Amino acid sequence: MAISRRQFLTAGAALGIAGFMLKPDDKGLPHNRYFSKLNEQLRNHGDFVPTMLIDLDKVDANITQLKTIMNSNTDLRIVAKSVPSPQLLDYLLKNTNTNKLMLFHQPFLSHIAEHYPHSDVLLGKPMPVKAAENFYHQLSSETTFNPKQQLQWLIDSELRLQQYLALAKSLNQHCKINIEIDVGLHRGGLQHPKQLDPLNKIIATNPKHLSFAGFMGYDPHIVKIPSIVKSPQQAYEESQTIYKSFINRLYELNPEYKNQKLCFNGAGSPSILMHKDKTVANELAAGSCFVKPTDFDIPSLTTFAPAAYIATPILKKIQGVQLPAIEFAKEIIPLWDPNTQRTYFIYGGKWLAKYESPKGLQANPLFGTSTNQEIVNGSINTKLDVDDHIFLRPTQSEAVFLQFDGLVTLRNKKIDQKWSILSQS
Ligand SMILES: Cc1ncc(COP(=O)(O)O)c(C=O)c1O
Repeated sequence: MAISRRQFLTAGAALGIAGFMLKPDDKGLPHNRYFSKLNEQLRNHGDFVPTMLIDLDKVDANITQLKTIMNSNTDLRIVAKSVPSPQLLDYLLKNTNTNKLMLFHQPFLSHIAEHYPHSDVLLGKPMPVKAAENFYHQLSSETTFNPKQQLQWLIDSELRLQQYLALAKSLNQHCKINIEIDVGLHRGGLQHPKQLDPLNKIIATNPKHLSFAGFMGYDPHIVKIPSIVKSPQQAYEESQTIYKSFINRLYELNPEYKNQKLCFNGAGSPSILMHKDKTVANELAAGSCFVKPTDFDIPSLTTFAPAAYIATPILKKIQGVQLPAIEFAKEIIPLWDPNTQRTYFIYGGKWLAKYESPKGLQANPLFGTSTNQEIVNGSINTKLDVDDHIFLRPTQSEAVFLQFDGLVTLRNKKIDQKWSILSQS
């Protein structure tokens, strides 16, 4: 079938319009005042290596915010993995007035026992019994940290409880046991209140080596379920009903526990607001909300401010975008996408992080990624030069902070101190 000249022109025009509509806008902007100030600070006083910045003024604002949205009948337990720096932990413990920590890593636990002898620790995940044994072996005789009173091991099954009982007997230790319950997240733990019975029996018959300390029911799913399936309020109420059913069973089995101070741990940054008016928990856990990585850009945390940024210098600046084997397209690609008018190579890369400033920076999937010197494209309006810094926001703090040898704190947008990172070994 022959195509008429008219049909050809119409199709061409349609393609042209579609292409025009798909053509990317220029998203580039220079650093705003805040990041210009940080860039200036780093140009004048920085180390010119990838740096994890913590803005303490914003951390302060997040502390105030957390106090506003916390249920006033609950204690705060700080999730150390999300703020893994000894000085940052000190700062948060002091300014939130708590000594409670949630830990997820045996080396961190050993560090905390030695350096925070007054802390009250709850494990946030069940430690393999061998890791627990290592903890006891590594516990310094100098420390006043007393695991018998200050440490709750998290137990998710009868088998694991048997392992801990055997460990306690072999070390002539006493272990406080907190039981993980599944309040709807389905990440393990007891699913039915009746499953408590055999664990309760093991604890009750071994008072020399074990004691019951409480429950941990983590519920971030309640704000993440699509609202078409369930509203956060409905999901919250359901998770609370499940939590309550475990407490009821516990009290049926051990009425004397009603008069004891047990630990009913709940929440996490995403869901902490849901607990504000009424909760069965008597303590709530949070960590990430103090620094707010991008995974925490969620409706329940809109009033919190990002406080952690990766800053890294620009090593090289190139006009256009030059790709191996298609060098001829260097000036053509930017005609289509103005956000490729400039190519920058930055110091480091491939972090779990998103470009934050200047606006309009983007990766180049055709060139690929690099942990050593990553390519970044942006329009002419990004106005960057070699030795300027770009800023990224980590998607999470727990893994990303550990990739840096310290945190550089900011006060009034000025470099203040260098804080260390918790040791991984
Ligand atoms: C058991 C438990 N509680 C609380 C939290 C909350 O931590 P964050 O406030 O950093 O999200 C977590 C995070 O993984 C967790 O696993």
